[in-house]
Amino acid sequence: MNYIALDQQHIWHPFSQYKNAATPLLAVKGEGVYIIDSEGNKYIDAISSWWVNLHGHANTYIAQKVYDQLTTLEHVIFDGFTHPKAIELSQHLLSQLPNNLQRVFYSDNGSTANEVAIKMALQYWHNKGVAKNKIVALHNAYHGDTFGSMSVSARNVFTQAFETLLFEVIRINAPHDDEQYWQEIQFLFDQYHHEIAALIVEPLVQGASGMLMYSATALDKLWKLAQQYEILIIADEVMTGFGRTGTYFASNQVTTQPDIVCLSKGITGGTMALGATICTENIFEAYISNDKRKTFFHGHSYTANPIACAAACASFDLLALDATWQQIQSITAEHQTFVNKIKDSPKIKDARCLGTIMAIELRNNEETNYLNSIGTRVGPFFLAQGILIRPLGNVIYVLPPYCITSKELNKIYTAIEAFIDTIN
Ligand SMILES: Cc1ncc(COP(=O)(O)O)c(C=O)c1O
Repeated sequence: MNYIALDQQHIWHPFSQYKNAATPLLAVKGEGVYIIDSEGNKYIDAISSWWVNLHGHANTYIAQKVYDQLTTLEHVIFDGFTHPKAIELSQHLLSQLPNNLQRVFYSDNGSTANEVAIKMALQYWHNKGVAKNKIVALHNAYHGDTFGSMSVSARNVFTQAFETLLFEVIRINAPHDDEQYWQEIQFLFDQYHHEIAALIVEPLVQGASGMLMYSATALDKLWKLAQQYEILIIADEVMTGFGRTGTYFASNQVTTQPDIVCLSKGITGGTMALGATICTENIFEAYISNDKRKTFFHGHSYTANPIACAAACASFDLLALDATWQQIQSITAEHQTFVNKIKDSPKIKDARCLGTIMAIELRNNEETNYLNSIGTRVGPFFLAQGILIRPLGNVIYVLPPYCITSKELNKIYTAIEAFIDTIN
């Protein structure tokens, strides 16, 4: 079968501009940190395949647990039924999340995890008879591609065709150490807290807008203020969850506890589609009523799919191993060493890292954004060297599976230096 010809004739890939598009590579196998194509070429997956993979590709431990689940119970309607793996997974999640979070609502991807969070927060106030329906979101945010998630995301090339249909949000800058910033936030909350239902943020790292990072201290301050004004806090940990920032969750690095956390991507170790939105008991209780209209009318056919939940439980088993955390620590240290080495280069606008995430913002005479022309050169350059890197415009980032070796990391760093050398 000529797979590529059929793909080009009949498949529409996401985020892909078909005019002058490169032919996709036919991935036929995954093996640890490598993806192998039909020609036998091996690529180090430096981006964990869209930030989902934790323990390497085709992990045999997860595969066995998925197989066991497939031959036990592959799916069951999650209304009126429950199943062991959904319950076991809820216990794993709650054991590591801030301890005020007590209720797990399952869905099937990051956008829906956020969509659920937004609806959950808005209906919470509605059920209580309080007229709060505004949401505060950050500039440069990315929360997904459904309409609610797009609404709270930044307005840019991703959302422009739908702009008139998206709901308005109150937009603030990411928290940072600046007296005037805090005065403005205080003023905003003072003026509008009666209307503000929730604040949504990607804690510590704003992924899709270029791995922009901000401090835990500033995040804590923002969340504390929101809490004082009875604004629900939604932490979109779709990207930052499961060890990426050096702790199980980015929210673990602050003292203030969010009211809702959204998870997906790494939740199954990168094997199955699953989302989860976890909230406090207080939010859940606002939905318990003799009045049926107070029900949370939201769900998906594959909500809490048992195979996905089994994969997630298996991934948690691997995440709990000391060896995994040693790997996370050594990736963190190696990223930091590399950032220190190159950050003063005149060709670099900024180099930053947090946990296993490292980002290099390259300088050219264009603005930093997704359409920066440097971006088109990055993919082919690294593929030719056996590395999968998918930049965010002029931001090259590395966010590898935790099983990556020091040798493989160094191969990536050397290739990045070689790429930087090609910039005028
Ligand atoms: C922080 C964040 N939220 C939500 C999403 C959307 O997740 P999904 O692609 O699974 O819909 C992403 C995807 O990159 C993300 O980084």
